[in-house]
Amino acid sequence: MQQFFSENSNQRSDQWGGSFENRMRFPLAVIREVASVIDTYADKPFILGYRISPEEIETPGIRLEDSLAFAQALADTPVDYLHLSMGSYKRTSLNQPDDKELLLTKFVHALNNKKPLIGIGSVERPEDAEEVINAGAALVTIGREFICEPKWVQTVFNCSEKAKNTGGPKDWLHLYYVSKTSSVSGLESYLAGSETFGSKSATISISI
Ligand SMILES: Cc1cc2nc3c(=O)[nH]c(=O)nc-3n(C[C@H](O)[C@H](O)[C@H](O)COP(=O)(O)O)c2cc1C
Repeated sequence: MQQFFSENSNQRSDQWGGSFENRMRFPLAVIREVASVIDTYADKPFILGYRISPEEIETPGIRLEDSLAFAQALADTPVDYLHLSMGSYKRTSLNQPDDKELLLTKFVHALNNKKPLIGIGSVERPEDAEEVINAGAALVTIGREFICEPKWVQTVFNCSEKAKNTGGPKDWLHLYYVSKTSSVSGLESYLAGSETFGSKSATISISI
């Protein structure tokens, strides 16, 4: 779908290529069709999401302006959420280096509360996840960090709870890092398995 949306890969001269409207036509048609199959066959609830690569560096290629307009169009489709594909949640525009606003924030504004946005990219510490939520994303996704620490969510949650219950260690982030680097004995015993993170109830899911 991205290849249809991209002016770089989509060289068509029919109704599926050329203008912004034409390049959006294929992904929007796919969404319509998938939504109709869900309506007909799926047990409810069945979530349908869309993942977007915000920019390309090639010329011609996907530019932020188009992606943000596309996000606005997606907000009016049956998709349940929009998910950004990028390596860091701190990413700003590749093609407009003077623009320092986070892409995350730009997409939150484009969606205008119509659809939740999933933020992603180098979320390694609990603070990173909080920054994603504070930037306006509804959900945080973690990919590579789960390879390093499959129990990231449980570890963060339980270290936080332990700090609350015992009055220390205050620096539960430190405990998290110790657990990663030197496998503290006994840490496993209080990993209870909750999937909830902190007071903001961010949902953490695995994505690669
Ligand atoms: C090996 C690898 C392959 C990836 N392939 C895709 C892909 O096919 N499509 C996509 O949208 N993102 C892809 N990504 C991007 C990830 O989904 C994610 O946005 C990125 O890894 C940043 O999140 P993380 O730091 O939590 O891993 C890939 C990332 C990696 C490391």
